[in-house]
Amino acid sequence: MFQSSEIYGGLRSAYDYGPMGVELKRNLMNEWWTSMVHSREDIYGLDASIIMHPKVWRSSGHLANFTDPLVDCQVCQERFRADKAPKLAEGEDAPITLGDKGRAKAALAKLHEAGHEHIERKGKQLFGAKAGDRGYVCPNCGSPYLSAERDFNGMFRTSLGAVDPMAQVIAAVKASVAEGGDDKAIRKAVDAALEESAVYLRPETAQGMFVQFLNVQQSMAAKIPFGIAQMGKSFRNEVTVEHFIFRSCEFEQMEMEWFCEPGTGREWLEYWKETRMKWWQSIGLSADKLRLREHESSELAHYSDGTFDVEYDFPWGWDELEGIASRTNYDLNAHAEGSNKKLVYTDPEKDNPETGKKGWRYVPHVVEPAAGATRGMLAVLCAAYDEEPGDESGKGARTVLRLHPRLAPVKAAVLPLVRKQGMPETARKIADAFFAAGVNAKLDMQHAIGRRYARHDEIGTPYCITVDGQTAEDDTVTIRYRDDRRQERIKVEAAVDEVRRALRE
Ligand code: GAP
Repeated sequence: MFQSSEIYGGLRSAYDYGPMGVELKRNLMNEWWTSMVHSREDIYGLDASIIMHPKVWRSSGHLANFTDPLVDCQVCQERFRADKAPKLAEGEDAPITLGDKGRAKAALAKLHEAGHEHIERKGKQLFGAKAGDRGYVCPNCGSPYLSAERDFNGMFRTSLGAVDPMAQVIAAVKASVAEGGDDKAIRKAVDAALEESAVYLRPETAQGMFVQFLNVQQSMAAKIPFGIAQMGKSFRNEVTVEHFIFRSCEFEQMEMEWFCEPGTGREWLEYWKETRMKWWQSIGLSADKLRLREHESSELAHYSDGTFDVEYDFPWGWDELEGIASRTNYDLNAHAEGSNKKLVYTDPEKDNPETGKKGWRYVPHVVEPAAGATRGMLAVLCAAYDEEPGDESGKGARTVLRLHPRLAPVKAAVLPLVRKQGMPETARKIADAFFAAGVNAKLDMQHAIGRRYARHDEIGTPYCITVDGQTAEDDTVTIRYRDDRRQERIKVEAAVDEVRRALRE
């Protein structure tokens, strides 16, 4: 993975997936798709657009509720999430050291002018402030002078069509100023003007599945319970980005909405908790590094009456990999109300439990396993990375990525021992046989064989097929296993099957 736009200094929290990264990410997402869509008859795939009608986000509650509490530091001008800032106890001295921050100087001068007291300690300016009304301390410069909390919406707003948002903004400001509007009124007018042409990049893939619920159900004659699955990019203007690709502004999700009868949500929540925990293990995360954590009622998203997080023990501690939520019928109801369309399922075989009449019409309830694909990739990399120290002198030391073979970017490296005696030609034929079988192999002739093995250990290639002097004599090659470096001789024509068998396991 490379920093996005690296030659221009990089973009905060944006990453590009290089030749190996793109393979690993796709393999992980394909595994998810296979388990959700291809190996079941009750889940249907969807690929909805990233830009959706703005009313979707009004109805879903994202315009009003998809916010983080934000505070601005008046000294260093940094912004951060209020709930991530250290908090002082009432009356506690703020442990601040400001004097050595050049960029804070002008702001400090202003604070002096405004009559704030400061003291000098060990050559540094310290504001002897007590925890004030807010009690937060800036995690960047230590100052307690923070703006009031404001809600910051995490959706990226843009505009669709040949509109000129700047012209709309200028007109709104002029009109508001002419009416004698204060800052608050001007802001409101600008916001309203922008909203007219605003569209949003989706902050989750889920809404595409809710708004297409009826189309999918009717075109596939789907019977409840059934699911709709979708994977792809989502965008959040995260205030705090952290841990490489763990939390970024552009990321990929793998989400499935499971539509079920009212009253069965909790039951299905149990089913999906178990199913998803097994899946993460099936791609190489060990059970002792995975756990389920139930959300406290204060953490629950606005749509949920019960959520469990699948957490992984990352190098910095337990953190979220996937959210499994009971979303009740919140979303379908919200979109039915917003669109004025009935989003109702009819079960002709079941009696209405309230009236006892034949045919039950209801708004389905939803259970949603929502996983991060890019975050999953980071977990898989952390789990697979291993350094073997070798013997006492360090001989035999290596770095090895113990990826599940199905996730490995390259499945088999085909290596002619030397570039002579017809070995490259034989290796070429073997590599072609892998390509023809749809297995991503790599013919690799550069450097000595030991270095090639080391390189493939590092990128997690599970099998190395080596063509040597004996190959011409008896049509055999060596197959080297990444995890224990064991080598065996097998027939040339068995090589493809051997690798394919391991990929099926
Ligand atoms: N539809 C429900 C939903 O989106 P979420 O818990 O906000 O729920 C689901 O997101 C998963 O998406 C998370 O568990 C995480 O793996 C991933 N995710 C969310 N925000 C992310 C970000 N900023 N960067 C990377 N992955 C993220």
